Amino acid sequence: MDIIERITKLKNEKNAVILAHNYQPEEIQKIADIIGDSLELCIAARDTDADVIVFCGVDFMAETAKVLNSGKKVLIPEIIETDCPMAHQLPPEIILEAKKKNPDAKVVIYVNTLASAKALADATCTSANADKVVNSFEEDEILFGPDNNLGYFVSKRSNKKIIPMPEGGHCYVHKMFTLDDAKAVKEKYPNAELLIHPESDPKLQETADYVMSTGGMVKHVLNSECSEFIIGTECDMISRLKIELEKAGKSKKLIPLRTDAICKSMKNITLEKIEKCLLEEKHEIMLDEKIIENARKAIERMLSI
Ligand code: 13P
Ligand code: SF4
Repeated sequence: MDIIERITKLKNEKNAVILAHNYQPEEIQKIADIIGDSLELCIAARDTDADVIVFCGVDFMAETAKVLNSGKKVLIPEIIETDCPMAHQLPPEIILEAKKKNPDAKVVIYVNTLASAKALADATCTSANADKVVNSFEEDEILFGPDNNLGYFVSKRSNKKIIPMPEGGHCYVHKMFTLDDAKAVKEKYPNAELLIHPESDPKLQETADYVMSTGGMVKHVLNSECSEFIIGTECDMISRLKIELEKAGKSKKLIPLRTDAICKSMKNITLEKIEKCLLEEKHEIMLDEKIIENARKAIERMLSI
């Protein structure tokens, strides 16, 4: 048996499901039961009837799956090297401090945060629904974090005062993209549409043809009349798009905005680690009950919108 057959056998024996984010390496996406953006994976985690969830992504995503499935075993194939640096930029202390300074503001935080931060939020959001979540509150002031660029994206789609926390919160992968990158690639491919993730710089958001979540990019590329796209997000997004285009029997040209936009944490999941994880049922995500209870309320508020 090769490694893929061994993983499939273990998965069936344990009634496990493999979830993989759009930024996972191609070989992981190919063996996953569900591939998606962070919102789609939240929903898949909520709806699964598997006993074991193997989460191929970064720490905050596996924690979200655990919060929504506290009675199930949620495993991540690599525990140390899968931290999302942006999620760690918003520890609970910063939220508590910001709440003290802005007592009338509601707290909306990106799912790219740890469960301990989510437990202090009124709602979570993803890049696919951030504006809808913010606009669902009656209050005029929203504390929003950790990504300042997603905060800009929301501020353009809402009349509310968006108060960023922390100042300078960012994703190092999306921060790589510059206007010069966009100009250079556009010059080479003048007919291609430029799709940009909202974690990118506001100037890029303003020049892009579309600003969208990774899930939004999948729908757009599959359904658009256009046949060439410049992909302004992490490089393996192109692997996801290729898989979906192949399934749909379509062929389109996909150009990365930068070939070095790689999220290192996402690449620390391997087939070997997935096999080991299923065999040994490690590494299990463990969270405090109170944190689970409070974080779930914030996530469920988002899912109800
Ligand atoms: P999506 O919500 O678009 O999947 O993005 C998650 C992420 O980590 C982007 O860097
Ligand atoms: Fe975190 Fe950025 Fe990687 Fe997304 S791409 S998981 S925000 S470091």
